Amino acid sequence: MKHKQRPKLPPGTMGWPYIGETLQMYSQDPSVFFAAKQERYGDIFKTNILGCPCVMLASPEAARFVLVTHSHLFKPTYPKSKEKMIGPSALFFHQGDYHARLRKLVQNSLSPETIRKLVPDIEAIAISALESLANQQVTITFCQMKKFAFEVGILSIFGQLNTGYREELKENYCIVEKGYNSFPTNLPGTAYQKAMVARKRLDQILNEIISERKEKKLLENDLLAHLLNSKDEKGQTLTEVQIADNIIGVLFAAQDTTASALTWILKYLHDDQKLLEAVKEEQKAIFDLNDGGKRPLEWAQVAPKPVTYTPFGNGAHACPGNELAKLEMLILIHHLVTKFRYETTFSIPVALGEFQKCDSVQSISNPSARTPCKVSERLQSQELFL
Ligand code: HEM
Repeated sequence: MKHKQRPKLPPGTMGWPYIGETLQMYSQDPSVFFAAKQERYGDIFKTNILGCPCVMLASPEAARFVLVTHSHLFKPTYPKSKEKMIGPSALFFHQGDYHARLRKLVQNSLSPETIRKLVPDIEAIAISALESLANQQVTITFCQMKKFAFEVGILSIFGQLNTGYREELKENYCIVEKGYNSFPTNLPGTAYQKAMVARKRLDQILNEIISERKEKKLLENDLLAHLLNSKDEKGQTLTEVQIADNIIGVLFAAQDTTASALTWILKYLHDDQKLLEAVKEEQKAIFDLNDGGKRPLEWAQVAPKPVTYTPFGNGAHACPGNELAKLEMLILIHHLVTKFRYETTFSIPVALGEFQKCDSVQSISNPSARTPCKVSERLQSQELFL
């Protein structure tokens, strides 16, 4: 009898039965675990994390294979502990009709027609973020970009949200993030348990916001409005749990991704003077057209353009927030290069704790996240520089 040949797996180790290599990963900074594996086995290796046998990919070719050329062979799944924390009804955990329904709602709330109305508010958030940055001696780029992306995320989900709710959401969301990549145990005092408690508080805050919105019968065009008004073919509305899980899901999908991309953009602009000059020239032309930055940016000046690579994924789960992401990144860069000066100060020692405050999503391995930076207001000179 012929034996079926077992598929060849990439190099690597699977660790113990069930727990696999989860303890090795969580007993240190997870990015150290991944870096060590990558060095030993290359860009594609097998392991077993959180009860999931998995293959880790760390090359653009491999990402293209999974997301583009062979995407039909793959189905996105997440460890149960992470699903529970974000909210199991969030769209990216689903396929089929439910996913299609939620995706349409998210897409509509982030369409170019909708986000073009957000330009003045995003501009205000970008300017305020940069001004507050300029008042600090030294800061960590990734942390600041996270704050910016969070504010824009809140804007696209809720429109103008009162400061009290915004602060409460921020405080509890930060605790959730800290627990997201921690070992999933419900022992009191652990990061995971604290995150689950904060996640419950987020539900309560969201329920309050929803009740207020329903009472006031506001006619908004943000994601919350799309979720509240949605009815399926049987006339069924979404439950409060489904709405809450999708709000947290979108916030989660929007923050570290955008902050990470912005951090890399700043790093490349800083490291490549020619590129920086070209960007400054391009943005200075817009700045001049707007009376030396006195008039607000117009949609035509910042409208997102298609990209020729695949940072936003591909297929059924491709990023519905890509236009908003490009828009907010461009607005921030416009103001940064036309009004501020940005330096990286590698030599300044920053306590590890400072970094870890921002390293909540360790899976976005980002060396430049650890780059302390200083932003100061542009000097008298007309010359623009970073
Ligand atoms: C530079 C910033 C961003 C990058 C690089 C990025 C990247 C991605 C990628 C690669 C995916 C697909 C994941 C998969 O195939 O499973 C995705 C999905 C998603 N993104 Fe983004 N994203 C960014 C910003 C945003 C923003 C600003 C929002 C919303 C405001 C957002 C909302 C979402 C949502 C809801 C999904 C899940 C879609 C689904 O499952 O159908 N993203 N993103």
